[in-house]
Amino acid sequence: MQDVKGRVAVVTGAASGIGLATAHRFASAGMHVVLADIEADALAAAEQAVGASGVDVLAVRTDVSSHKAVEDLAQAAFERFGTVHVLFNNAGVAATAAQLRARAWEGSLADWEWTMGVNFSGVLHGVRAFVPRMLEAGEEGHVVNTASMAGLLTGANPYNVSKHAVVCLTEGMYKDFLDMGAKLSASVVCPGLIDTKILAAERNRAADYGEATDVASLRPEQQEFAAAFASALKGGYPPEVVADQVLDGIISDRFYIFPAQAAILALVADRMTGIVEQRNPTPRPPA
Ligand SMILES: NC(=O)c1ccc[n+]([C@@H]2O[C@H](COP(=O)([O-])OP(=O)(O)OC[C@H]3O[C@@H](n4cnc5c(N)ncnc54)[C@H](O)[C@@H]3O)[C@@H](O)[C@H]2O)c1
Repeated sequence: MQDVKGRVAVVTGAASGIGLATAHRFASAGMHVVLADIEADALAAAEQAVGASGVDVLAVRTDVSSHKAVEDLAQAAFERFGTVHVLFNNAGVAATAAQLRARAWEGSLADWEWTMGVNFSGVLHGVRAFVPRMLEAGEEGHVVNTASMAGLLTGANPYNVSKHAVVCLTEGMYKDFLDMGAKLSASVVCPGLIDTKILAAERNRAADYGEATDVASLRPEQQEFAAAFASALKGGYPPEVVADQVLDGIISDRFYIFPAQAAILALVADRMTGIVEQRNPTPRPPA
């Protein structure tokens, strides 16, 4: 989609971090923006801030883990703007940094259900609510799903698993759009370390998702990893770096969008080569 001015974009997880930066980027490119997020106060602030650029903005409080809520979002977006050209399924959570070193048989099952519910089902709900409407509208469009470098590297934890599912889903959708000769395209964005509020994601955990893993039950290695990871994230790229690459990926129809540090990309390259060579997985690098 080479000309984005005047087009309509929907952004989930739009009240913070990557989503907020991308909503601003879309608005500065002249796009009208629908902002969806579960955090009401932050969403209201985002509505005001993004609206200040003069484009039309609609904010809809949405829990993407609810299919009904995302259907309502799609209805509100199409009612207000008549159509949607860009869908950015970006909302996501990580229970804690320590979760990235959790073992599948340890910790709370609720962490799995919440993380999969937002990170994977949230994306699926967006696709199922918006894509049929976008196809029917018959206009040029683009779906961008936020995965992570965690979707290309492995760990038996809910975050990595949810992000692998998003990579797989999005790559399949790209092929489907090609097969159909659709006017839609797709991209997957796999950020590396980005300085956002992702490690404070518990702030948005709905009560019905149950108890988080008890921090006291974490292994010392998990605690050490969590501390190192939190400080690495602080030194990560600002979310505007991701936003710029997302817009560029839409304009240039680039499927893989990797705003990631070279050291992380090297781990991905090693994993991919190892798979093709049928090498057994290597031990994790130190935190
Ligand atoms: N920060 C990183 O280093 C990094 C790296 C790779 C991928 N990501 C991914 O980027 C995406 C954005 O995260 P971020 O880093 O900007 O974090 P963030 O916490 O700053 O922003 C995430 C936004 O999603 C919203 N959200 C959470 N649960 C929701 C729900 N159920 N429904 C709707 N909105 C919900 C939050 O309120 C928040 O506004 C996530 O999918 C995350 O997994 C982040």
